[in-house]
Amino acid sequence: MAHSERVARLLAQMTPTEKLGQLQIIFRPKQEDAEELIRRGLGAVFWPRSATATNALQRVAVEQTRLGIPLLVGLDVVHGQRTIGPVPLAQAASFDPGIVEQLAHLAATEARSGGVTWTFSPMLDVSRDPRWGRVVEGFGEDVHLTSVMGGAMVRGYQGVDLSSPGAIAATAKHFVGYGQPEGGRDYNTVDASPHRLRNVHLEPFRSVVDEGAASVMAAFNTVAGIPMHAHHGLLTDVLKSEWGFEGVVVGDADGVRNLLPHRVAEDLADAVRMSFAAGLDVEMGGAPWDIDEGDLAAAIDPARLDDAVARVLSLKERLGLFDRPYVDESAEITAPNVAARALARRAAARSSVLLKNDGTLPLAAPERVLLTGPYAESTDHLGAWTQSFGAPARSITDALRERLPAAQVRVEPGVGFLDDDASGIPAAIAAASDCDVVIVCVGEPSTLSGEAASRSDLRLPGRQEDLIRAVAATGIPTVVVLENGRPLVVAGWIDHAPTVLEAWHGGTEAADAIVALLLGDEEPAGRLPMSFPRTVGQIPLDYAHENTGRPATTGGSMTTESADIGLHGPDNVQEKYTSKYLDLDLGPQFAFGHGSGYAAFSHSIPRLSAATLSAAALDAGDAVTLEIDVTNTSSRDGDEVVQVYVEDLVASVAPPVRRLIAFSRIRIAAGATSAVSFTIGSEQLAFWHTRGAAAEFAVEPGRFVLHVGSTLASTQPVDLEVTEARL
Ligand code: BGC
Repeated sequence: MAHSERVARLLAQMTPTEKLGQLQIIFRPKQEDAEELIRRGLGAVFWPRSATATNALQRVAVEQTRLGIPLLVGLDVVHGQRTIGPVPLAQAASFDPGIVEQLAHLAATEARSGGVTWTFSPMLDVSRDPRWGRVVEGFGEDVHLTSVMGGAMVRGYQGVDLSSPGAIAATAKHFVGYGQPEGGRDYNTVDASPHRLRNVHLEPFRSVVDEGAASVMAAFNTVAGIPMHAHHGLLTDVLKSEWGFEGVVVGDADGVRNLLPHRVAEDLADAVRMSFAAGLDVEMGGAPWDIDEGDLAAAIDPARLDDAVARVLSLKERLGLFDRPYVDESAEITAPNVAARALARRAAARSSVLLKNDGTLPLAAPERVLLTGPYAESTDHLGAWTQSFGAPARSITDALRERLPAAQVRVEPGVGFLDDDASGIPAAIAAASDCDVVIVCVGEPSTLSGEAASRSDLRLPGRQEDLIRAVAATGIPTVVVLENGRPLVVAGWIDHAPTVLEAWHGGTEAADAIVALLLGDEEPAGRLPMSFPRTVGQIPLDYAHENTGRPATTGGSMTTESADIGLHGPDNVQEKYTSKYLDLDLGPQFAFGHGSGYAAFSHSIPRLSAATLSAAALDAGDAVTLEIDVTNTSSRDGDEVVQVYVEDLVASVAPPVRRLIAFSRIRIAAGATSAVSFTIGSEQLAFWHTRGAAAEFAVEPGRFVLHVGSTLASTQPVDLEVTEARL
């Protein structure tokens, strides 16, 4: 790997101990402990919580060590540092990469002003299993959406120049497959074929490596038996050699030590040896210093050691740390400013999804409102993976009272989040009786999603479902506002609730955003980034599943009749022998891409610039243009999300039923028409072929159908043929 003269000069001067110091990041909350380790040569620390404390540590590194190498300062800045934006899953629901980039840039500006230079975000783990609590940290079930949002986040964090004041190094994590843990249990086994790995899990990483992501984090899981911290094939052969990744591969917290309980390493020295040999560059947790130095020097190949150190030093150089190791303490941002709050509010509003609406929303100047449910007065809107210094949110009640000073806003929580106590429901119902509308604010508190927060039951916890049903039964106009960090199972109440707004965990400004949405100041035009299952028994669940040989067209039924398949074959009982559950309707409760808004739109018939294109032309970079006119047929301005899916009619492997390849969220004034166009080329039509010795990303000639529309259920088809004719 090529590196600068400065890096080469330092490398030539460094002792093995100094080199090893650069390859670790250690959790040390106490400043004195950290200083001592830095004097010993430690090259990276977790953020010590202020610009002043960071400068003090940098001073030790720069002034009290032989070579004066500055520190990398790492932190999980996941959806905000001081100003907290919506959780990443919610950001994905915005279908707006622009707002994701702006939020990441804001987070980077706030974090770097305090001395942070390295974030462990974005999380690109594609997941089809909402039991897994970490779905909140990612962008959902879709490969393309995850790639686009991941790329936007990386650009937002890193900008064009990592050394600028508003930039920090991004980390794409968790490499790889972590989103597919068996049973949805965090840290559990992953077994994925090369086909699945290439076409699903690796793809977003490939895309952000192309985007210039500075680092990649190894995942806790195994892939086909090999823990990712020891996976040479994926860390080195694919990520570094095939993709040419020149950044830093960091381990996850104690991921190297975890090779022992994984039972693949004899002892810690063995674990350290395996992981660096596999391609790890920085260990997180301090394992190398817990083993005998003699063992270690012998364990790590000198060329590998130098390569890892060069990657770390090059990152420090790109961040400008050799020239400007300190931050301006007087310029540290410690609280959101007005613009930051406005951005967070807009992002929270754009991330919300209108799951259902009987016309109750937007509310028309209500005079008497009842707020009920545990989220009515709660301030738990920040969501998983925020730190204690994130700016707190206020309650929906406070925000609504401020927005409607003349209205009578009553609060009767009815139930708590988790407890099995429904005794407050009658009081809520009594309070509802003289109100124009009831807003039922329910959800999963943020501790129920995130790391180590898998759930086996995805219904609203406690007695919240009882509250929804009881309120809805009054016949008073009812709106359910949901806040949660994962898709929920809503089957127990969804048919009773006529209007449901999915607000997720929206961050510092969530409450004001929710109020703005309820009153129609903002448009809830997001779309679901993950399917909502009917029941946990249906999981894993995704719209892009492979075509089976026996696709079902209806759900099953429980019957006692038996069919004599041995004599007649399956044909005479066709509907039975299809891929489905006997006790469930087909498909999810709400599919990926579902959502509407307050405005209404009509779409023209989609047009393609050419109906055929040769494979050779695609290889040479040619593409077709897909165009559609969208008309806002309503009397209010609004946002439409146009989604394009591809269906591959015949391929060499069973293709996904549909696959998202492009989308666009556009603002259209009332009564106006806008043309939306998409470029469809090889990047959209190709998939990874994994049958040969080397995986190949290529378009297969044949017939495709492009499905264009505002949700999966409302698309229009247009045919495209890729011919084999040479140019
Ligand atoms: C998580 C990572 C995180 C790291 C450092 C781990 O437990 O898996 O995503 O970056 O901790 O906080």
